[in-house]
Amino acid sequence: MSKGIFVTATGTDVGKTYVTALIVKKLRESGLNAGYYKAALSGADCIAESDAGYVNKTAGINQEENTLISYLYKNAVSPHLAAEIEGNPVELEKVKADYERVCQIYDYVTAEGSGGIICPIRWDDRHILLEDIIKLLGVPVVVIAESGLGTINSTVLTTEYLKAKGIAVKGIILNNYTGGKMQEDNLEMIEEISGFPVIACVKPDDKDIDIDSKFLAGLYE
Ligand SMILES: Nc1ncnc2c1ncn2[C@@H]1O[C@H](COP(=O)(O)OP(=O)(O)OP(=O)(O)O)[C@@H](O)[C@H]1O
Ligand SMILES: [Mg+2]
Repeated sequence: MSKGIFVTATGTDVGKTYVTALIVKKLRESGLNAGYYKAALSGADCIAESDAGYVNKTAGINQEENTLISYLYKNAVSPHLAAEIEGNPVELEKVKADYERVCQIYDYVTAEGSGGIICPIRWDDRHILLEDIIKLLGVPVVVIAESGLGTINSTVLTTEYLKAKGIAVKGIILNNYTGGKMQEDNLEMIEEISGFPVIACVKPDDKDIDIDSKFLAGLYE
């Protein structure tokens, strides 16, 4: 039975793709059959040059390109707006089927979200938010957060939103962590206020994520 985790973040460009690549790489290096999936990706001309292409290459998955993503939009805007401009709006049935196809090939599937936790995926006659995809996949979440000033606010808002939506949170990963008094305090305050653990800190240009691979694999459900 395949297991999954969903990687979201406190916002766009926070490092979901960068950290996901390190996570998948770590699992694969420990001998696990780990793959990737992203439902809706905006701002790329082709899969190879997208988030999915980056993770596929960096983590050494060698996953078939057409299984990595369900929807690819050229415009670098939220999927709901990209679909309004380009057509081809997200269908949850396709997302579910595509994710299950990846689960048939890989034992540990890391799904990357679009944007932050509040991201409209489709907004026409049907309304789909990112959380609908998370619930559809039925997997817990890991939150990627910044390490510096402002992260206590954005991280706790994100975990409180997830709690309110009944989505399980496995932990927080601080990205671009360089340490020092403020960042160490951010880590402690985030754990205390949110009630969730910071499970790893990724430094700028890290090529490896400092986390036990068994513990990491144990977060997948
Ligand atoms: N720890 C890091 N060290 C060096 N560069 C990083 C690090 N984290 C992120 N970056 C860079 O910052 C940029 C944004 O990161 P990334 O693409 O992972 O964000 P994202 O959350 O996946 O964005 P999106 O919402 O578009 O999917 C990228 O150019 C990435 O290479
Ligand atoms: Mg990304």
